[in-house]
Amino acid sequence: MLTAESNKLFTEIGEGTPMGDLLRRYWMPIAAVSEFDETATKPVRLMGEDLVLYKDLSGNYGLTDRHCAHRRADLSYGFVEETGIRCNYHGWCYDQKGNCIEQPYEDTVDSSGKLRKQVKLKAYPVEEKGGLLWAYMGPEPAPLVPTWEPFTWENGFVQIVLSEVPCNWFQCQENSIDPIHFEWMHANWSIRLKGETGPYSPKHIKVDFDEFDYGFRYLRIREDTDEEHPLWTVGRTCLWPNCLFTGEHFEWRVPIDDENTLSVGWFFARVPTDKEPYVQERIPVWKSPIKDEETGRWISTHVMNQDFIAWVGQGTVADRTKEHLGLSDKGVGMIRKRYMDDIERIKKGEDPKAIVRNPNENGCIELPIIGKKYFRDGLSTEEILENADSPIGGTYRRFPFQAGQPQWVKDEFEEATGFRLQDSFPQDQGELSNIGSKDEEFAEK
Ligand code: FES
Ligand SMILES: [Fe+2]
Repeated sequence: MLTAESNKLFTEIGEGTPMGDLLRRYWMPIAAVSEFDETATKPVRLMGEDLVLYKDLSGNYGLTDRHCAHRRADLSYGFVEETGIRCNYHGWCYDQKGNCIEQPYEDTVDSSGKLRKQVKLKAYPVEEKGGLLWAYMGPEPAPLVPTWEPFTWENGFVQIVLSEVPCNWFQCQENSIDPIHFEWMHANWSIRLKGETGPYSPKHIKVDFDEFDYGFRYLRIREDTDEEHPLWTVGRTCLWPNCLFTGEHFEWRVPIDDENTLSVGWFFARVPTDKEPYVQERIPVWKSPIKDEETGRWISTHVMNQDFIAWVGQGTVADRTKEHLGLSDKGVGMIRKRYMDDIERIKKGEDPKAIVRNPNENGCIELPIIGKKYFRDGLSTEEILENADSPIGGTYRRFPFQAGQPQWVKDEFEEATGFRLQDSFPQDQGELSNIGSKDEEFAEK
């Protein structure tokens, strides 16, 4: 249970708030590179700030204030130039640093450029990595965008999936350190969703949590596993400061504002070894719906959609003055403490946890990964077919994580892997829910 004051500390991310200042020390994924194949500008609301993300005609990205400094027109309707973005109202043009580099009428009648020199838009650096565009809103010098190990894997089909979830970021991130929910929210609920009443998934009998340089691991033993099992020896990762990393996918929870979160999913599927070498020319991105428009209820057919239901169900901003934490919530307590400590660290002028500044460290940042060998080395089509009933085999049959995968993404997946994805149905979830848990022996091969 938290005081109302502590709850505010964790949940308010506006500029100048303690958590807002802390999160601004990290690069945030905000869009996919391939979104800019079709458009040059994208309106973005990030950390409570209205911004425009754009790619200029030279191929450089910029992220600036959404509103023109002249008379506040919306720059997401502006047009890009060789350098920067031009307002469509009276033609003022801004570079990536937010400098006003042209004021067509003023420049014509007043060669001193007096007004132009006074004008500057808020602007943030943008970098590209892993097919994502990352923004940094904190003080200079900016750290490096971490090169997480899966970004270096080859022969993979990657897809990026975006969803807007109408609740505060912190309850989403607390889900990143929550092993018990796999048993109930995914496994057992899915059994009920398909109309059955059991048998339920093996129970958890022991959980543990530990901290490492880039986050926290959660470890677990179920009735059907033991201390030799990778769920205990390797575990899964609450990646700092706002991500869940499961081994083959990342889920970032990026604050849009205090009441909305952008879920950014990055999913890796290894192409069969007989399809190598495979180089993905363009990483597809798609937007996943979270509400069933016919019923007005949240979609429950896919693993992450089930998580979203938990998060929004906790309220727009979860009221932690009314919670009762148990032994299963030890990890939640640990991460809360770390955020608090980090807030203190930045007040003292120190870097918070998991800031990467050394290029030698950033060649490839290794993480705990169950089945690492499989992701790196792959399996042949024949081996995948032989193991079709395992959850890893299952990922070649359907995309289990988020609803609404477009047909054109399925087509690209098929071209890369030779496997045709079906839509996921609730009756599959009992099996799907255990992805990455019951398949470890297979994955370790
Ligand atoms: S409002 Fe943008 S140039 Fe006038
Ligand atoms: Fe989950």
